[in-house]
Amino acid sequence: MASFGHVSELAIDGPEALEKMTPDFDLVLLDVMMPGMDGFEVARRIRENPEINDIPIIMITGLSSQKDRLQAVKAGVNDFISKPVDRVELNVRTDSMLKMKEAQDEIKQHRAMLEETVEKRTASLRKTLKELRKAQRLTHQAHLDTIRRLAVASEYRDEDTALHINRMSNYCAIVARGLSLSADEVDLILHASPMHDVGKIGIPDAILLKPGKLDNSEWEIMKQHSIIGARILRGSSSELLEAGEIIALAHHEKWNGTGYPKGLSGEDIPLYGRICAIADIFDALTSNRPYKKAFSSDKALEILQEGRGTHVDPNVVDVFFDQLDDVVEVQKKYTENEEEKRRGVPSNL
Ligand SMILES: [Fe+2]
Ligand SMILES: [Fe+2]
Repeated sequence: MASFGHVSELAIDGPEALEKMTPDFDLVLLDVMMPGMDGFEVARRIRENPEINDIPIIMITGLSSQKDRLQAVKAGVNDFISKPVDRVELNVRTDSMLKMKEAQDEIKQHRAMLEETVEKRTASLRKTLKELRKAQRLTHQAHLDTIRRLAVASEYRDEDTALHINRMSNYCAIVARGLSLSADEVDLILHASPMHDVGKIGIPDAILLKPGKLDNSEWEIMKQHSIIGARILRGSSSELLEAGEIIALAHHEKWNGTGYPKGLSGEDIPLYGRICAIADIFDALTSNRPYKKAFSSDKALEILQEGRGTHVDPNVVDVFFDQLDDVVEVQKKYTENEEEKRRGVPSNL
């Protein structure tokens, strides 16, 4: 058959044609009537093979019925040449198909190039995002660390230490979880509650460390620590510091309105304040203070129970009691050992 200057390859039947075909072919001229496998089947198999399924097929046929032609189109044939083959027609049709294939190859190449570019850019974007996430995590960690150290600094002068902060903040998280607050809120109260007493920074040693009972005027000064704390934390755009401000101001309010500084009662006291109050009271009762020895946990729980509905939010107390196993775990985990006592600073700072 005429090649018209193209490189051509001949196969005597369908199976040989299929075996010889590679993605480098640009056009298939296919007879219909062949021994063994007819042209329709060969066309179908070419279309089923993803390696070669975009090569145009011209069917050379003596069949002229519409049914046969439809069958050929269904099998994936692109064009027809009737027998006997006319050289000019063959040249025109092959030329047209080869042009189509060339355009198709260009599009394919362009698409591959685009895909490669997109892939490269996606990989670089992914890398940037990963680095950004890491930087955000580190910044957040540094933020939490700074807050914790600020809290420790404020408690450093009295006998409360980082251990009190660790226990108290974990009790808060346990209660928040028990109240079904969201994971974000549990995290927020865990990291904000250590700031409850930052205002102690503004209380003179003579009052803060006084071993006996405070007189009225000393007590008034001591009460100021909630206001001083809120003032220190006020005006920040950090969600954590905002929560810290709420807690600093509200953690000494009492359910029946006899607390300070505002004398709020019931649910007018922010929930974070009510949660921190219970955590702080329980830990204060079970710790040594300048003015008292530690109570046993049982005694402390009894005192908390007595304050249910007067001093503390009854619902929050109930949740605290429901979670006692977790509370005890935290208590055990953050207990000062002899070595830490000797050095004066707990090792888990
Ligand atoms: Fe306090
Ligand atoms: Fe405290």
